[in-house]
Amino acid sequence: MFYLFPFGTVPKSDGVIVYGAGIIGQSFLKQLQATQLVSSIYITDKKITSTKQEGAITFIPEKKLSLLPAHPIVVASLKFGDEIEQRLLQQGVDANRLIKLDTNHALEEGQYDPHSFDWNEYYTNAEGHNEVQFQAYLEPLMQKHNFNLSQVVDFACGKGRIAEILSRLSTSLICVDTSQEAISHCALRFTDKQNVDSRVSDPEKIPVDSNSVSFIYSWDAMVHFDYRSIDYILSEFSRILSVGGYAVLHHSNARGHAEFKADKNWRRNPHCRSEFNADDMHHICSKSGFIVEEQQILDWGIKALDCISVIRKR
Ligand SMILES: C[S@@+](CC[C@H](N)C(=O)[O-])C[C@H]1O[C@@H](n2cnc3c(N)ncnc32)[C@H](O)[C@@H]1O
Repeated sequence: MFYLFPFGTVPKSDGVIVYGAGIIGQSFLKQLQATQLVSSIYITDKKITSTKQEGAITFIPEKKLSLLPAHPIVVASLKFGDEIEQRLLQQGVDANRLIKLDTNHALEEGQYDPHSFDWNEYYTNAEGHNEVQFQAYLEPLMQKHNFNLSQVVDFACGKGRIAEILSRLSTSLICVDTSQEAISHCALRFTDKQNVDSRVSDPEKIPVDSNSVSFIYSWDAMVHFDYRSIDYILSEFSRILSVGGYAVLHHSNARGHAEFKADKNWRRNPHCRSEFNADDMHHICSKSGFIVEEQQILDWGIKALDCISVIRKR
């Protein structure tokens, strides 16, 4: 089991106190350090008997908790969450400072594949960042390379937030995604657009004719794909693109990162990035019939976490 730090529910503060120095607490410390969410990180529990500093982390005995600033306290236990909450309340800690875990934060180790993950929370949260992300990353590349937008594929389109913008620029746009729910949503979203077709995809097979596509883009999806999936998908891109056709692919650059060691399980890494990087993309391209035209290394919460590769079919 992997326990995700409750990023969405911790109020803004320049520090966080983690209560519980067990496996969950240790995992939270790693996630806090990797994401640099706060400048001060404290950890406390009954077993810590003296104050000590280890790098950015301060270990502090529970009895000294009242001496710390009133940062949010994240209870790093599912099993004993209620008990810890009661004890802290009895010590006079304000209930509003306490954040407890629920089962949503406990992730099954076996859920490795991005196509079997439930992206509904993402779809809701990401909507609203569409224009900003398009203007910051995709539009400058489109202006620079002047891609042929006659037959376009949005690979792993989700609920079509970026496709909405590309539908205004493309003669024909095919949206593909492995999620039936996302594709049904796209079908409704684009019901009035004659130039948009939405299709359910298999994880390693794209339902588009060979040599029929002039341009592929994929945004904020392949960042979670491992080497093997990208290898398979690049073969599919090579099959469906016409000679000279371009693809703009947003993917992970977490493997070999300067600030953390990427885990093979993408869900354990900062921003759920996969253990993959710009060099891996180069390698796969060279054996799948692509020329890498350019690679832009991007900061995504963390410096140099992502990459956009612009590739062209030979
Ligand atoms: C984080 S969402 C991004 C969606 C969209 N690109 C966006 O920016 O809103 C990742 C999407 O990738 C899809 N996906 C995962 N694996 C896939 C695969 N092998 N082929 C096609 N879609 C896939 C998921 O169903 C999900 O909709």
